[in-house]
Amino acid sequence: MSHHSSTPVKVVVTGAAGNIAYSLLWRIASGDVFGADQPVELTLLEIPAAVRAAEGTAMELHDSAFPLVTGINVSDDQFKAFEGANAAFLVGAKPRGKGESRADMLTANGKIFVEQGKAINAGAADDIRVLVVGNPANTNARIAAKAAADVPAERFNALMRLDQNRALSMLGQKLEVPSSTIEKMVVWGNHSDTQFPDVTFAEVGGEKIADKLDRDWYVDEFIPRVAKRGGEIIEVRGKSSAASAASAAVDHMRDWVNGTDGKWTTAALPSTGQYGVEEGLLFGFPVIGRDGKWEVVEGLEISDFQRERIDKNVEAMRGEWEIASKLF
Ligand code: NAD
Ligand code: LMR
Repeated sequence: MSHHSSTPVKVVVTGAAGNIAYSLLWRIASGDVFGADQPVELTLLEIPAAVRAAEGTAMELHDSAFPLVTGINVSDDQFKAFEGANAAFLVGAKPRGKGESRADMLTANGKIFVEQGKAINAGAADDIRVLVVGNPANTNARIAAKAAADVPAERFNALMRLDQNRALSMLGQKLEVPSSTIEKMVVWGNHSDTQFPDVTFAEVGGEKIADKLDRDWYVDEFIPRVAKRGGEIIEVRGKSSAASAASAAVDHMRDWVNGTDGKWTTAALPSTGQYGVEEGLLFGFPVIGRDGKWEVVEGLEISDFQRERIDKNVEAMRGEWEIASKLF
């Protein structure tokens, strides 16, 4: 899948009748993820109650006449849907409403990922890449990875690229530079309010930006604003973020497959103990995409301030895992 071929990439999108999928499917179909020359076969997975609505989404995909789309399947059978899959976007899950936390969704959503992990284990292709979007994304991804016992854990990622993109955009506005010029930004930890958008290493044109930022703005405004942006969107829009979430999922999967050209980004992947993060946690790390794999940027010097924020995320994720582990 890392180089283009005429064999279609088999892509599963779950929650296909939902908000995020309505944007994501069109971006995949137009070639934004797997490349402008790479055919794709799409499978839309839904629960029985929403499968008819997903058929409506499929009708619209057909009506878009995308040259790269070789087939569109709609299913409520997980085992059939993941058969031979090369890539899966696990979006299908309940979004939180006003006043709820992302972790509150664990009870309702956790079990979905046990079932889908099993189905991925049973039939997905050897090169399967799974990106979990449904909340709480990091813990759900760990649940799916555990349920898919025969699939290497590194094939399971959780989405933190939306947090990364939010951080880049807010910094770009603050510094009055295009956000695309900011490098070495990272969001450590969990896709939750404890997440740590870290500007310590960030550069514009090779120059560190941390010193140019007001410390109070960084600590008291920037960090919480990025961390709570999902809640802010729900407050203002009345619904959970959708097109921006889809766009981040596109960025993540594209970079996982095609690499980042030596540049850093953020992805949540299973810790193997980097930066003292407990093994197995699906943790947001600074990463570089290379040869179809993520490499965690290692050897960075970590201050006490950073250590404390990283540890808070480890703690939060341990708490979520205590609840999640009861699903097995
Ligand atoms: P939505 O309610 O519009 O759509 C979710 C869809 O998933 C529904 O159609 C539902 O029927 C379907 N679904 C539920 N269980 C399923 C299952 N077992 N198999 C297949 N489909 C299933 O929600 P949305 O706005 O698209 O958000 C989806 C999820 O993504 C939510 O949990 C939300 O919190 C999360 N989210 C995560 C991020 C992130 O950055 N990680 C960003 C935005 C939203
Ligand atoms: C987001 O960050 O926009 C999503 O995780 C949705 C949410 O509940 O915040």
